[in-house]
Amino acid sequence: MAVSFNAMVGFVLITLLALSGGPVNSEPTQDKQALLAFLSQTPHANRVQWNASVSACTWVGIICDDNQSYVYSLRLPGVGLIGSVPPNTLGRLTQLRVLSLRSNRLSGPIPTDFSNLTLLHNLYLQGNQFSGEFPTWLTRLERLNRLDLSSNNFTGSIPFAISNLTQLTGLFLENNGFSDKLPSIPAGKLASFNVSNNKLNGSIPASLSKFPASSFSGNLDLCGSPLPPCKPIFPPPTPSPDSPPIIPVNKKSKKLSTAAIVAIAVGSALALFLLLLILFLCLRKRRRQQPAKPPKPPVTTRSVVAAEAGTSSSKDDITGASTEAERNKLVFFDGGVYSFDLEDLLRASAEVLGKGSVGTSYKAVLEEGTTVVVKRLKDVVVTKREFEMTMEVLGKIKHDNVVPLRAFYFSKDEKLLVYDYMSAGSLSALLHGSRGSGRTPLDWDNRMKIALSAARGIARLHVGKVIHGNIKSSNVLLRPDNDASVSDFGLNPLFGTSTPPNRVAGYRAPEVVETRKATFKSDVYSFGVLMLELLTGKAPNQASLGEEGIDLPRWVQSVVREEWTAEVFDVELMRFHNIEEEMVQLLQIAMACVSTVPDQRPAMQEVVRMIEDMNRAETDDALRQSSDDPSKGSDGHTPAAESRTPPSVTPTP
Ligand SMILES: *[C@@H]1O[C@H](CO)[C@@H](O)[C@H](O)[C@H]1NC(C)=O
Ligand SMILES: *[C@@H]1O[C@H](CO)[C@@H](O)[C@H](O)[C@H]1NC(C)=O
Ligand SMILES: *[C@@H]1O[C@H](CO)[C@@H](O)[C@H](O)[C@H]1NC(C)=O
Ligand SMILES: *[C@@H]1O[C@H](CO)[C@@H](O)[C@H](O)[C@H]1NC(C)=O
Ligand SMILES: *[C@@H]1O[C@H](CO)[C@@H](O)[C@H](O)[C@H]1NC(C)=O
Ligand SMILES: *[C@@H]1O[C@H](CO)[C@@H](O)[C@H](O)[C@H]1NC(C)=O
Ligand SMILES: *[C@@H]1O[C@H](CO)[C@@H](O)[C@H](O)[C@H]1NC(C)=O
Repeated sequence: MAVSFNAMVGFVLITLLALSGGPVNSEPTQDKQALLAFLSQTPHANRVQWNASVSACTWVGIICDDNQSYVYSLRLPGVGLIGSVPPNTLGRLTQLRVLSLRSNRLSGPIPTDFSNLTLLHNLYLQGNQFSGEFPTWLTRLERLNRLDLSSNNFTGSIPFAISNLTQLTGLFLENNGFSDKLPSIPAGKLASFNVSNNKLNGSIPASLSKFPASSFSGNLDLCGSPLPPCKPIFPPPTPSPDSPPIIPVNKKSKKLSTAAIVAIAVGSALALFLLLLILFLCLRKRRRQQPAKPPKPPVTTRSVVAAEAGTSSSKDDITGASTEAERNKLVFFDGGVYSFDLEDLLRASAEVLGKGSVGTSYKAVLEEGTTVVVKRLKDVVVTKREFEMTMEVLGKIKHDNVVPLRAFYFSKDEKLLVYDYMSAGSLSALLHGSRGSGRTPLDWDNRMKIALSAARGIARLHVGKVIHGNIKSSNVLLRPDNDASVSDFGLNPLFGTSTPPNRVAGYRAPEVVETRKATFKSDVYSFGVLMLELLTGKAPNQASLGEEGIDLPRWVQSVVREEWTAEVFDVELMRFHNIEEEMVQLLQIAMACVSTVPDQRPAMQEVVRMIEDMNRAETDDALRQSSDDPSKGSDGHTPAAESRTPPSVTPTP
C-alpha cells in the first residue's frame, strides 16, 4: 500500500519535475475525457499541455487516487484560463476532492454542474471574475472544508444556508460585491473568515464577532463588535441581548457603560496587582535560591564537567581536567573568531541546553561575555588520532547553514566540542513549544525558509563527504531571521555501532534499523521526516499521531490515501491564504525523501533544487493578476501564483 502511494507521488513528481518515468498501466478514462473537454474549450497559457496519449494522472495539475482510477485533485492556479467554465466538463469529475482554479480570468457564473462534485473538500476560485449570486447549491457540498470565492465579481446576498456547511474551516468572500445583511452563520469549526470589501450592511452577528475587524472592513455599513457599535435605530427591530446599542433608553445605556468602565478599571487594577505580586514572589524566591549556591564554586567547570556525572566524582573531574589541560589543549580551527583557553572555558558559567545520546550540551558564557555551546561527548570509542582526523574534516566545513565547529578538546576523560551559540533556539522548540497558548505560530514563509536553508546545510555536508547522521528538529538551529543551520553533524564515526545513527526513532530510515549505519540516503530520509514535521506540526512518533507506534510518514500516508485533503497539514497554517499548492508540493518532495527504498530517494542536492524551484515559482502576485501572463510564470511545470511576497532566501556563498 505504501508502495502504491509512493508510486502516485512518483507520478506527480514526474509531472512537476519533468523526470522521465516508468510505464503507466491504468488511467481514469472518463475523467480524462472531461478534462480534455474542459481544456479544449477554455483558452489558456501554453504551458498547460495535456498530452492525450499519456495517462491523465501524469498531467500538470492532476493528482489521481492510488489506483489511478479517478482524479482526486485538479489545480490550475494562474495559468491564464479565460472565459466561462464550459458546462458538463469539470462537473463530471465526481471523485474530485480539491479543485483550484484561482488566479485566472474565468468569468460568468459557476456552472451548476459543480453541484455534482459532492466529495469536494477544497474549492479555490479566488482571483477570477466570476459573477452572479452566491450559488445556493454550493451549500449542498457538505464536505466542503475550505471555500474561497474572494476577489471575484459576485453580487447579491450571502445565504444563511451556508450554515449547512458544517465542516467549513475557512470561508473567504472578501473583495466581491456581496450586499445586504450578514446572516448569522454559526462559527462552528470556522477558523478563518473574511467578508471585507463588499457592500454589506447591518449588524455583525454575535456568532461571527470573534473574528478580527479586518475580516469585516471596507463594507457599506457594517457595525457591531468587532467594528464600532451600531447606531440606535428607531423603532428597534427585535431587541437582542447581544446588541446593546438597540436598547432604546439612552440614559440607561449610559449608566451601563459607566458601570462597565468601573468594572474594567477595577479588573485591570486587580490584574496589575496580581502580576506585581507574582513578580515580587518570583524575585524573592530567586534571591533566596542564589545565596544557597556559593558553597559550590560559582562559575565553574562543575557545571560543564560535573553536572552530568553526578555529585560524587565531581571533584575528581575538575582536577582531572585541569591537570590534563596542561598536556591537552583546546584545539581551535582556522578562521575562528574566538580566543580563549580551556581554563576560560572551565571557568565559564554553564547551563544545560539538552541531553542527547551522544552527550550533553551546555551553553557556556565566558567571563569576557562570549557565549558558546560546549558539547560533552560520552562513550567515544575512537583513539585520539582518529578523533582528530574526524575533527579536521568537520572543522573545515564552513557554510551559512551549518553551525560551525570552532574547537575541540580530547583527553582520556573528557571529549569536548565547541560550537557557535545560536540564540533563536531550535526548530523543535519553535514548532512544538507552548502550542496553543497564544504564541505566534511559525508561518509558512518561515517554514519554507527553514526547509530550504536546512536542506542547503545538509547538502553542503554531503558535498564534503560528511554524513550528518542525526537529523532531527532539535538539531536544526535558527538565527533571529529564521535562517536555519544544522548542528551535531558527522559525529557517528566517533561512536561504536552500539549507538545507532539517528537515535530518535521517528527520524530513522527503515534500513538503518538493521544496518545501524547512516548513509547519505538515510540522511535524506530523516530530512523528509523533518519536512513532514514542518508541514503537519506533529513531532515524529508522538502520541498525537493516534495509533501507538505509527511513524510520521505512515501517518501522513494513511491520511492522504483516504482523502487527498488539507487535513494532514498543521492547523496553525490554515489561517494563511493561498499557500496550499506550495504545501502540497513540499509534501510531495517530503514523500519522495521518505521512500522505503533508499535508491528511490532523491539526492540531497536534488532536494535543494526541488525546494528552490518551488520558491522561484511564487514571484507573482495573484491580486495583480500578473500571473495571467504566461511569460511571468514558472518553468512550466509548477503552476503557481501567490498573493504573498516570496520568502527572502539568503544566497549561499
Ligand atoms: C505525447 O506523448 C507521447 C508518448 O509519450 C509522445 O510520443 C508524444 O511526442 C507526446 N506529444 C507531445 C505533443 O508532447
Ligand atoms: C484499488 O483497487 C483495489 C482492487 O481493485 C480495491 O480493493 C481498492 O479498494 C481500490 N482502492 C481505492 C482507493 O480505490
Ligand atoms: C449530475 O449527475 C447526474 C448523473 O450522474 C446527471 O443526471 C445530472 O444532470 C448532473 N447534474 C448537473 C447539474 O449537471
Ligand atoms: C463586475 O461587476 C460590475 C457590476 O456589478 C461590472 O460593472 C463590471 O464590469 C464587472 N467586472 C467584470 C470584470 O466582469
Ligand atoms: C440546508 O439549509 C436549508 C435552509 O437553511 C434547509 O432548509 C435545508 O434543510 C438544509 N439542508 C440540509 C441537508 O441540512
Ligand atoms: C442594507 O442594504 C439594503 C440594500 O442593499 C437595504 O435594502 C437595507 O434596507 C439596508 N439595511 C440596513 C439596515 O441599512
Ligand atoms: C480580509 O481580507 C482583506 C482584503 O483582502 C485583508 O486586507 C484582511 O487582512 C483580511 N482579514 C483577515 C482577518 O484575514
